[in-house]
Amino acid sequence: MRIDTPIIAAVVLGSAISISGAQAPPDRAARQATLIAASGGNKALGKPIFEKICSNCHKFGTMGKEIGPDLSTIAATRKRPEIIESILFPSKIIADQYQPVLIQTKDGDIVSGLVIKENARAVTLVTSDHPEKPIEVLKSQIQARKKSAVSAMPEGLADTYTNEQVLGLIAFLLAGPGGI
Ligand code: HEC
Repeated sequence: MRIDTPIIAAVVLGSAISISGAQAPPDRAARQATLIAASGGNKALGKPIFEKICSNCHKFGTMGKEIGPDLSTIAATRKRPEIIESILFPSKIIADQYQPVLIQTKDGDIVSGLVIKENARAVTLVTSDHPEKPIEVLKSQIQARKKSAVSAMPEGLADTYTNEQVLGLIAFLLAGPGGI
């Protein structure tokens, strides 16, 4: 029966995965309160998160891309609780120039994102799923187009990070690009 052992192990592992996959959705409102009440933060923990995730869409000093707002001067324009809200609930406040659109194509596909280029022939969108790969939709293929209430900034970006890491990210943003 020795030969069965790896199979049993695989089954046990499989059930462990499905248990963690069935977890309740994260309580972001509770987390927001915790983060607002906390202070400090190690910006060295925030830098790698910015480089990996946020820099796909935000500039910060010389790093990053300008799809969303430039965050270099965020410390001067936003208060700490506002920054926390922007990270946990990106769709709550969306500035006009970052108004996302929702396009339905004649094939029935739905594309939602931020228009980064538009001419008589086509619209180019950045989507939150693949910000590094803009999508071009031909105007002749558009069935309907409307404003979207969902930010191009993805929900749940902070869910995989600990509070300590998110506090580090906030400290990193508040220190400004000169403080890296
Ligand atoms: C797919 C692109 C994308 C990614 C990735 C992204 N953002 Fe954003 N972000 C945006 C867009 C677009 C806006 C403006 C619309 C809005 O507020 O929802 C924005 C807005 C913000 C704002 C509010 C700025 C202001 O001036 O009010 C903050 C703060 C912010 N993002 C932080 C972050 C951080 C921190 C990360 C990484 C954890 C991140 N973003 C990742 C696209 C992105």
